[in-house]
Amino acid sequence: AAAGRGDVAGSRPPAPGGDADGPPVRRAAAPVPRPVRPRPGRLRAPGAGPRRDGRGAAGAVQRGLAALGAGYCYERNLAVNPQGGNTGLVGGSVPVFDEIILSTALMNKIISFDKVSGILVCQAGCILEKLNEYLEDQGFIMPLDLGAKGSCHIGGNVATNAGGLRLLRYGSLRGTVLGLEVVLADGSVLDCLTSLRKDNTGYDLKQLFIGSEGTLGVITAVSILCPQKPKAVNLAFLGCQSFAKVLETFTTSRAMLGEILSACEFMDEKCMELVERHLKLSNPLTGSPFYVLIETSGSDSTHDADKLNNFLEQAMTSGLVADGTVATDAKKIKTLWSLRERITEALTHDGCVYKYDISLPVGKLYDLVMDMRARLGQSAKNVVGYGHLGDGNLHLNITAESYSHFLLDAIEPYVYEWTARHKGSISAEHGLGFKKKQYIHYSKPNEAIFLMQRFKAMLDPKGILNPYKTLPTSSEGNMH
Ligand code: FAD
Ligand code: MLT
Ligand code: ZN
Repeated sequence: AAAGRGDVAGSRPPAPGGDADGPPVRRAAAPVPRPVRPRPGRLRAPGAGPRRDGRGAAGAVQRGLAALGAGYCYERNLAVNPQGGNTGLVGGSVPVFDEIILSTALMNKIISFDKVSGILVCQAGCILEKLNEYLEDQGFIMPLDLGAKGSCHIGGNVATNAGGLRLLRYGSLRGTVLGLEVVLADGSVLDCLTSLRKDNTGYDLKQLFIGSEGTLGVITAVSILCPQKPKAVNLAFLGCQSFAKVLETFTTSRAMLGEILSACEFMDEKCMELVERHLKLSNPLTGSPFYVLIETSGSDSTHDADKLNNFLEQAMTSGLVADGTVATDAKKIKTLWSLRERITEALTHDGCVYKYDISLPVGKLYDLVMDMRARLGQSAKNVVGYGHLGDGNLHLNITAESYSHFLLDAIEPYVYEWTARHKGSISAEHGLGFKKKQYIHYSKPNEAIFLMQRFKAMLDPKGILNPYKTLPTSSEGNMH
C-alpha cells in the first residue's frame, strides 16, 4: 500500500487518487459517517475587533466561534482540519478528503505581555515573526525561531512542538509553553491558559496538546515564557574539512563559549551549492565540504567577543576550522543566517524532494547521509544533509528530477530501519502528519501507540479532529 509514502516537498499530501507528483492514495477507512457534505471553504473567526485584549469581547467571540465551529461539526459528524500558517512539512495541515479547514488566521490578537515575568499570552493565529517583533520592541524575544517564521502561527508551532534554531538555548516548547486554551472535539473549551512557572496541581494536560498535530483539540490561545532580548549577538560561519571536525568544533564551542552559545547548525557543501545556484546567495567562504554556524547571545559585548575570539583562535590553530567569517551587525547576521534558513526553499527549486527529519546520536548524524548517497548513486539528483547539530537533528533531503517510485523504494523503509537501528527518531521536529504516520512503529513501541489511540478515542470519540493524521489506522497495521 503506497498511501502516504513519499515525503515529497511542500505540505500538500498527494491528492486522493494520485497526482502528477505522488503515488496514488488509498482512501482510508472513514472514521465517521458524513451525512452532510460540507461546502468548500473555511470556518473563520470574525475580523479584528476594537480591543487588543483577545480575552475581551472580540477574543471571546473568536474563541466562541472556534468552539461553535467544532460543536457544529461534532453534532453533524463532520471532519475538521485545524490549520495555522500551512507551513508544516508532513501534510498535517492539509485535508486528505473532505475535512473542513478550521483556520486560525484571524485569531491574531496579543492578549497580554508581562515585562516582569516575560510571559506572553496570545491567540493561536499570531504569526511567529510578528510576535517576535512585538517582543523585541519591549526588550524580549520569542523562545523559538524557524525559517518559516514569516508565515507559521504560534498555535501551529505548539501543535507541532516545533524545534528550530533556538532550541539549543531555550529548550523545547514543552518547557516554555506555560498554558493553553483548547477547543475540544465536542466544542467545549478547556481553559488551561495559566501564566504560572510552577503548577503541580494534577496532570499537566497541556502537554497532551503540544505536538498532537490537531488530532486532540484546536489550540486557540497560548501562554509562553519569553527570554530577554540578548544585548550582544555574534554569528560565526565556519568551514570544516570533515564531519569529525564539525563535531569537534561543536564540542569545543560548548566548552569554550558555555552559557553564551545560542545556536549550532550545520550544512554540507551540497546545500551550499543549492542556495547559491537556485537562490543566488553567495558563500563568503570557499572550498569546504561542511559549514557550521555558531551563534552567541549574551549581555556583555566585550565579554562575548573575547570568549568568541578565544574559541575561534583555538579552532583555527588546532585545524578544526579551515576558514571562517564573523558577523556582529544585524544585517550581516541576517545574511549569514539566510544561507542556512533558506535551504528548504532552495531544495524545492531542485526538483522533487524526499524529506527526512531524523534524531540520532550526534556522532552518527552524517553517517546516514553518506550511506544514502552511496546507496542511491545516480538515481538521486542530490543527497544533502543539514540541520540542528546541537540538538542531534539531521535533515536528510534527497532530490530527483521527478517523482519516482523506484527511488522511493530505495529510500524507504531503509531510512527508517537505519534510524531505528541507531536508536533514533524518524521525526525529530516536524511530526508525523499524513506522510509519516504509518512509520510511527519505528520510533514508538506498540504499548505507547495503543495508549495514544486510547487518548485519541477519549478526547475525540467520533474521530472528527484531523482524521488520517499522526496515528496509524488499524488497517495500516504494525510495521514490525
Ligand atoms: P500548519 O502547517 O498550519 O499545521 C501544522 C499541524 O498543526 C497540522 O497538523 C495542523 O492541523 C496543526 N495545527 C495548526 N494549528 C493548530 C491549532 N491552532 N490547533 C491545533 N492544531 C493545529 N519546523 C521545525 O520544527 N523546525 C524548523 O526549523 C522548521 N523550519 C521550517 C522552515 C521552513 C522554510 C518551512 C516551510 C517549514 C519549517 N518547519 C520547521 C515546519 C513548520 O514550519 C512547523 O511545523 C510549524 O510549527 C508549523 O506551523 P503552522 O502554523 O504553519 O502550522
Ligand atoms: C529547517 O531546519 O530548515 C527545517 O526544519 C526545514 C527543513 O527541514 O527543510
Ligand atoms: Zn529543522
